[in-house]
Amino acid sequence: MITENSGVFHLQNETASYLLRVRPEGFLEHLHFGAPVCTGDAQALAVRSGLGWGDSVQFDEEDNAACLDVLPLEWSGAGRGDYRESPISLSRGGEPLSTEFRYAGFALHEGGAPMTSGLPQSRGGETLELWLTDETQKLRLRLFYGVFETAFTRRAVLENCGDLPVTLHKLMSFCMDLPGKFRMHSFHGGWIAETHRRVTDVGQAGVVNESVCGDSSNRVNCGFLLAEPETGETQGRVYGVNLIYSGSHYASARRSLQGLTRVMQGISPADFHWELAPGACFETPEAVLAFSDAGFGGLSAAMHAHVNRHIVPEYWQNRPRPVLYNSWEGCMFDFSERKLLHLAKQAKELGCELFVLDDGWFGARNSDRAGLGDYDVNTKKLPGGLKRLGEELNAMGLDFGLWVEPESVNPDSALYRAHPDWVVPEQHPPLLGRHQLRLDLSRPEVRDYIVEKVGALLDSAPISYVKWDMNRHSPALGAAAHRNVLGLYEVLHRIFDARPQILLESCASGGGRFDLGMLCFSPQIWASDDTDPIERLDIQDGLSYLYPQSAWGAHVSQSPHAQTLRATPLSTRGNVSFFGVLGYELNLDELSPVERTEIAAQIAFYKAHRETFQFGRFRRLSCEENAVCWQVQGEGETLVGLFHRLMPAAAGYEFLRPAGLDPQKRYHVASRPQLLRVGGFGSLLRHVAPVRMKPGGLLLSTVDKHYRMYDGALELTVSGATLHAGIPLPARFAGTGYDPALRVQGDFGSNVFLIEEETENEES
Ligand code: GLA
Repeated sequence: MITENSGVFHLQNETASYLLRVRPEGFLEHLHFGAPVCTGDAQALAVRSGLGWGDSVQFDEEDNAACLDVLPLEWSGAGRGDYRESPISLSRGGEPLSTEFRYAGFALHEGGAPMTSGLPQSRGGETLELWLTDETQKLRLRLFYGVFETAFTRRAVLENCGDLPVTLHKLMSFCMDLPGKFRMHSFHGGWIAETHRRVTDVGQAGVVNESVCGDSSNRVNCGFLLAEPETGETQGRVYGVNLIYSGSHYASARRSLQGLTRVMQGISPADFHWELAPGACFETPEAVLAFSDAGFGGLSAAMHAHVNRHIVPEYWQNRPRPVLYNSWEGCMFDFSERKLLHLAKQAKELGCELFVLDDGWFGARNSDRAGLGDYDVNTKKLPGGLKRLGEELNAMGLDFGLWVEPESVNPDSALYRAHPDWVVPEQHPPLLGRHQLRLDLSRPEVRDYIVEKVGALLDSAPISYVKWDMNRHSPALGAAAHRNVLGLYEVLHRIFDARPQILLESCASGGGRFDLGMLCFSPQIWASDDTDPIERLDIQDGLSYLYPQSAWGAHVSQSPHAQTLRATPLSTRGNVSFFGVLGYELNLDELSPVERTEIAAQIAFYKAHRETFQFGRFRRLSCEENAVCWQVQGEGETLVGLFHRLMPAAAGYEFLRPAGLDPQKRYHVASRPQLLRVGGFGSLLRHVAPVRMKPGGLLLSTVDKHYRMYDGALELTVSGATLHAGIPLPARFAGTGYDPALRVQGDFGSNVFLIEEETENEES
């Protein structure tokens, strides 16, 4: 809901209030963003500026307190007495422009205010538009505030109303001054190590969260949190900030002496020069803001709800995602139609629903050195083309998915030979990344080529899923990079708006472009090329702060793992991938009979609880050091995953302590049945089983392929209240023998517990 009363604007949603007011001289003052408050209390919420501040510059000579530098503001200019970081930077004829924006009016838009530059935005909502003008510089600024159930959005549009061009160097999507002391929780890494959470105190020196890759990048995710230092999973005040944008981005938070933290976010100003001709406008991406006073868990719930309801394409909103098999890690570039169909048959038998043909199916693409750009099927590998492959898969009962990487080109390709000028222009001799160059999507003919080529592919075969990859960052700087992002969005609109039922999974060497902009087109994103489940604990945990689990692909791959050489139990690889969109990406021919049985059981379990795994309320539960515990909660059922890293000797008691249950109700709790590898015990087998087998011998390796031992099972019925208090789990192996009731897991062991509501109420 949005109300206006004598220049006070109150934006309210299910979780928060956002209040601002127009000051008598026309500046926009930030009053409150936080727990719900009453509109009538606006005056009570305003800071008392006292008698003024020594060296301050005043906008009213008669009033010592009339100083922009110390006021909590909703926007600020440059060179007018506010010496904090400005959200705007302009020049004219090489000279910096001072700016000062004063309120000129407002408008309300039911159902949202559509953007005009082609940037994606949250669907629906109610929007407040505020007009501000700088009469001296002949500029008009429009600030948009969107109100959604669990989040607010903000963005800005700058219009040059003068007769001379203006150069725009920086225009943030929003700026505000929040009272309070915060820590920034941001999400960093790189290839195969994405979205690791890092925590930095926000002081007067400030904290910057920026990508200058031309893409949102795996170095620095756009999304971050500002949390009070004592914030935990269930208590404390925390803000979530994210940007619906896939290019270079910037955010900063800096605390003033007065205890206001100025926070802003938008397109990265690095090397940004955008000519704004007389009469022209520049539109920023939309920022998404949420608040919770119930800790990180509350904030994540608010952000997840917003993504699920207002970001992902409508067709895929809450629509169950298929369990897929992807050919990449199993085949790389080496496959034939026969081999693929042989794998597909096995994938189908295991329970997969979608077969994804990854890289290597077109042109001379037999390695990553050639062929990228030439999307004509390699008929040596696929003599019947994509159509026959798709039809064969469909006949088996599998959907067909296809990999493409349309934003790049190998110099060794027919496309590059025909159009060497289609790549992003560079001043220096071009440098390759993964043997490829980026196409210049700011050029209409390049966009047309991609739209026609990919569109024709999708119509040529029964394709229901596309993995859209992008494997090198762009050399484009500043405005050129932004034009490429706009070009990408146009291409995605033109291809997929007409084909809403195609499930798009975007990818950028894994999670190199995991952002809300891509999620507006692709409801799921390949989170990382790193499928080691222990690495995934950090990656998926980091993502979970701001993105719902339906947004990331999570695949079971081979062990030892290709990037870490770490050997992990198949159970843990499955258990971690359950908390995401499950897939399998390994050579199925190499599976032992017992592994097949185990995978079939994993897939069946996942499908039985798929809606909860993909769309249930996600929580990070507290657990012992060195472990991670996630919970998802849906209709009548809750699932808890408990994952261990290294196993300590003499491990202490461990408890299952789920959250969000009805204390009055009774619940049936059961661990998902999972098995232990006999071979994993080596010569220790004699301690745990009444048989003697030579470690590494033929007998043990044969037994290992066909038998598993049971891992400590838990099954009981108990009240929600007791579960909230915490129930002890089966003890862990401590080197003295085997008991089916023990959890004999060792390093990287894990369990998933299913908690189902019973129908009758607790009696005592
Ligand atoms: C990237 C992706 C992988 C795979 C390969 C194919 O690395 O992240 O999943 O698709 O490209 O070349």
